[in-house]
Amino acid sequence: MSDYSNSGRNRDSNVPSAVQSESSARTTVTITGTGSCIPEKILTNDDLTKLVETTDEWIVSRTGIRERRIAAPNETASDMAVRAGVRALESAGLGPGDIDLVIVATITPDMLFPSTACLVQDRLGMRNVCAFDVEAACSGFIYITEIASAMLQSGRFRHALIIGTEKLSSILDWSDRSTCVLFGDGAGAAVLSREDNPGEGRVEVVDTLLGSDGSASNILYMPGGGCRIPASADSVAAGYHFLKMNGREVFKVAVRIMERAALEILQRNNVPLEKVRCIIPHQANVRIIEMLSERMKLPMDRFHVNLDLLGNTSAASVPLALDEAMAEGKISDGDYVVLVAFGAGLTWGATLLRRHEKSL
Ligand SMILES: CC(C)(COP(=O)(O)OP(=O)(O)OC[C@H]1O[C@@H](n2cnc3c(N)ncnc32)[C@H](O)[C@@H]1OP(=O)(O)O)[C@@H](O)C(=O)NCCC(=O)NCCS
Repeated sequence: MSDYSNSGRNRDSNVPSAVQSESSARTTVTITGTGSCIPEKILTNDDLTKLVETTDEWIVSRTGIRERRIAAPNETASDMAVRAGVRALESAGLGPGDIDLVIVATITPDMLFPSTACLVQDRLGMRNVCAFDVEAACSGFIYITEIASAMLQSGRFRHALIIGTEKLSSILDWSDRSTCVLFGDGAGAAVLSREDNPGEGRVEVVDTLLGSDGSASNILYMPGGGCRIPASADSVAAGYHFLKMNGREVFKVAVRIMERAALEILQRNNVPLEKVRCIIPHQANVRIIEMLSERMKLPMDRFHVNLDLLGNTSAASVPLALDEAMAEGKISDGDYVVLVAFGAGLTWGATLLRRHEKSL
């Protein structure tokens, strides 16, 4: 595995973007709206004891998860994405006609192709829109934040709808207790907008770093369904269409990656830890977040945690937590917020957000 430092795009380290943002008016990318979709059906730890040999005590003590949401059999990733997207548009005060870019992050698309983003574009009645999916597993939302930000900054697009959506229940082996207790379904969305002079209260996307290490692709993966092992009676019988994971290995790597990514994004923008109001980490396991808190020397009350009720929703996890944190007022004037995630690939990423106190 590679060294996880120095990940992300090259930039002029002498001119951190947070400092640049103070010095002159410039084009920014801001989060103008967020939204969520959480399926109705709740699956508790007690419910799981009827499927596999496990206990509420084991799941809570090892993961912090108490329950998760499970999509209805006919409810797809695009259905949840549409609902989260509509809410994000409403909160941005925009209509489908204002959006010119749709990016969906998912590892559980409705189909391998066409993209879930195209299904969302059609369902929302958007026209003349660039729409595509990104597969970066649990880091997906950070990846699409960076991609959308760069496309908006190019000047060719004005408003992007970005969505993390997952129906992980469709790729879980419900007889494997080491994985089926961890995951849930849902979707989270955000509208990103290009603004020349962000107004008071606007949440700016200050900077994002991304990284990957495919040499560790075998610790979290789904072997079947691609061209290597296409669907066949044998592949289904062998369980190749289920998520596979080496939990212990993922745990170790996750703590290390998220710590480095979060610290690096702060360091390269000259933002001291005490100015960070909230960290919104990927919601995989509360023990991973507790170790992150310990290693970063930041108290747990600065970390937004909702995995107790939603489990790990992969690409939906960060935007669901972001929508909740925004609604709870955890992003207030002048505050910095860090989104940080890791996932299969391996992939990882961190985004630095800041809420503007006043117009620049
Ligand atoms: C999966 C995870 C919770 C397992 O916790 P752990 O403390 O590492 O547990 P282990 O894998 O060492 O297993 C310990 C024992 O519990 C058992 N066990 C596993 N799942 C169980 C369950 N749901 N209920 C009861 N026992 C279980 C194992 O079989 C093992 O038994 P053994 O010692 O008799 O072999 C933990 O490794 C983890 O969270 N890893 C990260 C996973 C993750 O975040 N994935 C998503 C990344 S985006």
